Amino acid sequence: MSDTANTIVNLENVGKKFGNVTAVNDLSVDIREGEFFSLLGPSGCGKTTTLRMIAGFETATSGAVRIRDREMSGVPPYDRNTGMVFQGYALFPHKTVGENVGFGLKMDGVPKDEREEKVKETLELVDLPGLEDRSPTQLSGGQQQRVALARALAIEPSLLLLDEPLSNLDYKLRRELRFQLKRIQEEVGVTTIYVTHNQKEAMAMSDRILILNDGQREQLGTPKEIYNKPKSRFVADFIGEANLFDGTVTKCQNGTAEVELDMGTGRSLSVPTTDAVEEGRQVTINVRPERVTATDLEGILTGEIVSRTYLGKSTRLLVDVNGTEIEADISSDQIVGLSQDLSIGTTVDLTWKPDACVIVGGLD
Ligand SMILES: Nc1ncnc2c1ncn2[C@@H]1O[C@H](COP(=O)(O)OP(=O)(O)O)[C@@H](O)[C@H]1O
Ligand SMILES: [Mg+2]
Repeated sequence: MSDTANTIVNLENVGKKFGNVTAVNDLSVDIREGEFFSLLGPSGCGKTTTLRMIAGFETATSGAVRIRDREMSGVPPYDRNTGMVFQGYALFPHKTVGENVGFGLKMDGVPKDEREEKVKETLELVDLPGLEDRSPTQLSGGQQQRVALARALAIEPSLLLLDEPLSNLDYKLRRELRFQLKRIQEEVGVTTIYVTHNQKEAMAMSDRILILNDGQREQLGTPKEIYNKPKSRFVADFIGEANLFDGTVTKCQNGTAEVELDMGTGRSLSVPTTDAVEEGRQVTINVRPERVTATDLEGILTGEIVSRTYLGKSTRLLVDVNGTEIEADISSDQIVGLSQDLSIGTTVDLTWKPDACVIVGGLD
């Protein structure tokens, strides 16, 4: 059973097989009332299948799906009080925008006057006031997706389920709708489960993110926790950019592990850790490129610049340290203050603040 009072969706050891393909494997998670919760992971990791089991379009092969403590097996989608938006627009092309938005209400037997009022209100909410009589075919992709959202919201669902709703839109529109969607969700306060393979989207909108890999839970946490304390190589790499180093713990005391790097510099790194890590343990460490800086003094690592790319606010350096390539984003401000010119072929000292370095793998 769910362990918190405000849990709305509870998955307990949920599995789903299609023939011999395991789409979802032993997944347990609680989703809280009112939160914006994302299922994030690469294509094929089981996001859509998980969402469809919550919606009732798929049946779990094992485990239990509960909504408000009620076991959902045998409960059809229309009895789950959920609103769903898909990647494709899936509007009824021969119905007007108003008829599309009012569709669920009509099915529920809501009288015409009341229905029209609700349709008007919901179209205003998604910033499409007065478009009731238009045909969906006259609307842009972004507008169509907002109509689909209005249709899902009109029935006042207790769960809003969104499956990559922005991925068919161009970059600029996607960004715009991201903010709009978040604003609407906050305004309505509806618990939202958002499926995406786009880490920036999930980071920008979510209260919490569940990262899935190969049908299994990889990590659950707030965007900040996942970004700053990735629990595995997979998460560190998937969420943002990573410099991953393997090494061996030689000492661990007072919240700091000394890790001797495998890369053969004879160097050790001091890594803050809240866990006690025993001596001899193999671990993986991550330092994000944006946390690496160049210094005129002695750095933590020294290497040769093999490429540089101007990125506007910063310059991305690729530095060869004893055969291992390290990425460093040096801010334009910092470059001005350095005495050396960071040209290709020169030697550079790299450093970072102690807390920029985290253990991401090798711990259980
Ligand atoms: N109806 C189906 N029949 C057979 N295999 C399926 C079906 N739906 C999904 N799968 C498989 O299950 C896995 C997870 O799919 P899916 O949940 O769609 O992933 P995602 O949404 O993360 O891209 C994939 O290997 C996919 O090919
Ligand atoms: Mg999918």
